[in-house]
Amino acid sequence: MNESRVLCQLEEIPDSGAISVRIDSATGGFQVILLRTGDRVFAYHNECPHQGRNLDYVPGKFLVRDGAIMCAAHGAMFSVDSGDCLSGPCSNGLVRVPVRVESGKVVTG
Ligand code: FES
Repeated sequence: MNESRVLCQLEEIPDSGAISVRIDSATGGFQVILLRTGDRVFAYHNECPHQGRNLDYVPGKFLVRDGAIMCAAHGAMFSVDSGDCLSGPCSNGLVRVPVRVESGKVVTG
C-alpha cells in the first residue's frame, strides 16, 4: 500500500538548507533529510553510507553549503540534488526517498 503522506510545508525547510522528519512505518520507521533548493526538495535517508551514522550535528541541524551536505561524523560530502558521494570517506551515495511538492506541501508516496 502506497499512500500519499504530507511530510511538511515547503516553507518549513530553509532555502538552501535542510530539516529532518520521521516517517513511521510498520517496521518502526526511519528519519529522512529534506533538502530544499528554491521550489525543489530532495530527500534521503538520514544514514551515512560510511558508518551508518546520522548526518546531523545535533538532531535536525545539518551542514549544507554550495550544493553539498556534509556528514557531521567524519566529513563525507554528498551532492544535494543527487545524493552522490563527492568527497571524504564515502564510497556510496545517500539513499533517496521519493518526494514531490504539491500546493506548497512536501509529499511522499
Ligand atoms: S559516518 Fe558519515 S562520514 Fe563517517
